[in-house]
Amino acid sequence: MNSQPLPLEVNGLTKKFGDFTAVDHVTFSVQPGEVFGYLGPNGSGKTTSIRMLCGLLTPTEGTASILGVDVFKNPEQIKPLIGYMSQKFSLYDDLTVLENLQFYAGVYGVPESEEKKRIDEILHLAGLEERTSSPTLELSGGWRQRLALGCAIVHSPKLLFLDEPTSGVDPVARRVFWDLIYEMASKGTTIFITTHYMDEAEHCNRVAFMYRSKLMALDTPASLKSTYLHGAAWDLAANPLLETVDELTKTDGVAQASLHGDRAHVILDSTQWSPDQLTKYLAGKGITVNSIETVQSTLEDVFTLLAHRGKIGEAA
Ligand SMILES: Nc1ncnc2c1ncn2[C@@H]1O[C@H](COP(=O)(O)OP(=O)(O)OP(=O)(O)O)[C@@H](O)[C@H]1O
Ligand SMILES: [Mg+2]
Repeated sequence: MNSQPLPLEVNGLTKKFGDFTAVDHVTFSVQPGEVFGYLGPNGSGKTTSIRMLCGLLTPTEGTASILGVDVFKNPEQIKPLIGYMSQKFSLYDDLTVLENLQFYAGVYGVPESEEKKRIDEILHLAGLEERTSSPTLELSGGWRQRLALGCAIVHSPKLLFLDEPTSGVDPVARRVFWDLIYEMASKGTTIFITTHYMDEAEHCNRVAFMYRSKLMALDTPASLKSTYLHGAAWDLAANPLLETVDELTKTDGVAQASLHGDRAHVILDSTQWSPDQLTKYLAGKGITVNSIETVQSTLEDVFTLLAHRGKIGEAA
């Protein structure tokens, strides 16, 4: 048995703002070197969770430990262990790239004897060597993002929290950023990341899905699909198409129906329908189904289904 403490263990984590519960008894743990995705719609409690786990916000209930250190009893002790790139990067626009890195090295207490070597490593890792004297104000979104990452890791943290680090960044810059993340993970840094991009969620080792303050599911992307979708996302060629979508939206056992180009995309919430049965059922409603094709399900389908179940649960 491995007796090493885990990078992150969270138990019953809860935050209430007055009567409103922003994070509701969330429990999970993160493995060493894992890229752990923390996903969920706007307002589902992701940033609030991270702020608690970084010791910036006091929880209402629950416990958390980082590499064996109790986050809420010893918030000062976790600071050297973690890096945090917040949703609104906190860079100083009036400083240059190098000055921002030097500033954060000071904040995180990097020893002066190590500072230059560490900053050089980061400039190299982030590809910022040519831009050391650029004013931060003049950097484009992708470069700002890499500098913000550099500032968050200047003290070589073991656990890195990244809150929507790629929002508003172009696809090429996002790829470069993910290469950096993998590189850090392969060298042993554990990554805790939030994102609204489903392609990025697919890149995570495991994904947690938050919905209205609660943790709805946690698993690898492949297992989430096989567990919740049973492979069942269908594209229907049918006539009339808009009525097909409307009808399916009201049908039992259908989590969501939407228009995908010239098809109706259907996410099933049960195994009650076979393609033949659904074709007959729709025929009874005056709809002609020309074909039903099983399509490769995506994490977006899984989350749509989970959100649907979350809503049903609340209504019940
Ligand atoms: N200080 C606060 N006081 C009151 N309510 C708050 C406070 N901070 C957050 N909330 C509320 O808690 C809920 C969760 O917010 P949070 O920022 O954690 O969501 P999120 O999942 O990070 O969303 P997004 O994807 O938009 O970043 C929201 O309804 C938000 O309005
Ligand atoms: Mg947020």
